[in-house]
Amino acid sequence: MTDLNQKQERDQWGSKVGFIFAAAGSAVGLGNLWKFPYTAGQNGGGVFVFIYLALVLIIGFTLMMAELILGRTTQLGPVGAYRKLKEKWSWVGYIGVLASFLIVTFYSVIGGWILKYIVTAFQGGFNVTDVAILETTFTNFIGAPVEPLIYHGAFMLITLGIVMGGISGGIEKASKVLMPGLLIMMVVIMIRSMTLPGAMAGVEYLLKPDFTMLNMKVVLAALGQVFFSLSLGMGVIITYGSYLSKNENLVESSFYIPLLDTILALLSGLTILPAVFALGFDPAGGPGLLFITLPGVFAGMPFGSFFAILFFILVLFAAVTSSISLLEASVSLFVDEFKWNRKKATITLGVIAFLIGVPSSLANGPVMSDMTFINGMNFFDSMSFFAENLLLPLSGLLLAIFIGWIWGTDKAVEEATNSGQVKFGLAKAWAFIIKWVAPLGIGYIFFQSVLTLFS
Ligand code: TRP
Repeated sequence: MTDLNQKQERDQWGSKVGFIFAAAGSAVGLGNLWKFPYTAGQNGGGVFVFIYLALVLIIGFTLMMAELILGRTTQLGPVGAYRKLKEKWSWVGYIGVLASFLIVTFYSVIGGWILKYIVTAFQGGFNVTDVAILETTFTNFIGAPVEPLIYHGAFMLITLGIVMGGISGGIEKASKVLMPGLLIMMVVIMIRSMTLPGAMAGVEYLLKPDFTMLNMKVVLAALGQVFFSLSLGMGVIITYGSYLSKNENLVESSFYIPLLDTILALLSGLTILPAVFALGFDPAGGPGLLFITLPGVFAGMPFGSFFAILFFILVLFAAVTSSISLLEASVSLFVDEFKWNRKKATITLGVIAFLIGVPSSLANGPVMSDMTFINGMNFFDSMSFFAENLLLPLSGLLLAIFIGWIWGTDKAVEEATNSGQVKFGLAKAWAFIIKWVAPLGIGYIFFQSVLTLFS
């Protein structure tokens, strides 16, 4: 067959490995490297990790597969996918796309901080072990009116440039290089961190669950983290699934993506927490763990600047492969639904996302830190709460209800197994989770989040 005969209207992944790397690239991001270690640190360590792993197994795999099925069966992004299967449900697709678009606006702000840290690391600016000084440096930087915006713009430009290249040309090519590079670098730094004297206390803290610490807050934090880290509930995975060819093995892909994501989260935890313990910092230090404590950690170790540069470049890789997936969700909406060309859609949406990100950046400094939006939160936190804690669970909940009760799990399993050609031993369990466990479980977090709006 010639290329012409095979020519499809829609881009497709060039290879299976390319797809898995790209999807894993979307999943592995600031959620794993920055959020997972400090969230674990704030929620009892091992007990959080235990619950997190259980939830990845039960909810993560199931929803990952559900989204891939929806995307591939329709070969459309979330809006088109729902519409094709049930006209009345297309608005559900918009919720997901809206959420991913809102997330990319502030994700890029944090991505900008990473860029700044790479620059600082190159300038040898992290030769400071005093945590207090590092903290001031950090808060002064993120609170400044102009400098973080420049880095935010730079990060958005990188994202935009790759998305403009299209699916197999841009996203896939980048991910194929970046993902394995990330894994290798991560292992090197982890070994360095775990061999510090006193590091074993951190390993134990992370891996040995203390069930007396178990409470509802830990479970909610873990469930939220599963969604965010696996890129679920936003139509991102639906979109990526839509570029899959009909003979791809979905059962296998839904297994590898969460697996890779979880490995990276654990690697990051095993890099950051042992170092935190070895150097006597507080594991519950919060979001600053990456930006404040780690540079201090690097400064205190041999070849520190080298490891700092390596580490922040690696975080940048991970953040970029995630942000391209976040932007891609809305770009493909405009390409598929409104027939824009990719270049126009990417530039327009990228610029708008940059602009909406501006107040998120300013919210960390005197210019806007006093302005509150949702529930006394500043602009940045309000955006993050609205997108992650409301839109995301809502769209995940509706996804489970849609597949379980509207479209039907039989049709879903038919698609997952390529009409019976692929073995799917757990099909019954999967259907049960989609129909009952996922709606009830996710419905519960959504309910909790809505409650906090009124508290
Ligand atoms: N999962 C990414 C991370 O861990 C973030 C992300 C990318 C995301 N795409 C998403 C989160 C879609 C939710 C939905 O950093």
